[in-house]
Amino acid sequence: MINNLKNYLFKNNTLISIKNRRSVRMFLNKPVSTGALETILNAANQAPSAHNQQSWRFIVLKGAKKNELAALVNEKASAFTKPSTTLLRLASRSIASAPVVIAIANTGQLISRGTELFKVDKHTAKDFFRIMEIQSSAAAVQNLLIAATSLGLATVWLGVLILIKKEVLYFLGEPEGEFMAVIPVGYAAKISPAPKKQPLAMVVKYL
Ligand SMILES: Cc1cc2nc3c(=O)[nH]c(=O)nc-3n(C[C@H](O)[C@H](O)[C@H](O)COP(=O)(O)O)c2cc1C
Repeated sequence: MINNLKNYLFKNNTLISIKNRRSVRMFLNKPVSTGALETILNAANQAPSAHNQQSWRFIVLKGAKKNELAALVNEKASAFTKPSTTLLRLASRSIASAPVVIAIANTGQLISRGTELFKVDKHTAKDFFRIMEIQSSAAAVQNLLIAATSLGLATVWLGVLILIKKEVLYFLGEPEGEFMAVIPVGYAAKISPAPKKQPLAMVVKYL
């Protein structure tokens, strides 16, 4: 039993990183070391996954390839109306400004092996396995974000690219995969104040 929760929160490094993580959308022109990059990829890869299928792929983009992705997102943004077009343009700028970008795609491995691993009927199967892959990869993404924060790095989970998922997956060389996230990683140029989070009393129910 923790007697003094506030003291504990200030001393526990994991909880400090969870609390300090912020979505950062503009980055300094400062590289991320290979060691730091591998550390956060390894943290992502340690996540729990349904039936331990680890049905995720991490695609790392730097330099010209990363800038090509930024250009692709910017180009495709014009096909949409507001706010999608604005969000895609902002995403493109974040990608361009970050020294490194990590994209996450689901492989579909769990979906294809699902009926053999879990005894569920075929109707339930596709929805069931797809959701499990998404949940597993989301756990990996969150591990990555927290690990990055713990190393003084900044990140943002760009989900809006799902609007152009086909083009993005093709660009990433994962045309058969499912889009999960694109995460610019770097050192924060500007950190916005923490957005308000709902008080626990609003989101927790004790039965
Ligand atoms: C699934 C998901 C998708 C997101 N997509 C975007 C996005 O496309 N663009 C963006 O700027 N932020 C995106 N975010 C970041 C949220 O806007 C951010 O988490 C939220 O405003 C709370 O701020 P915080 O992360 O600093 O706590 C996304 C976050 C999640 C979890």
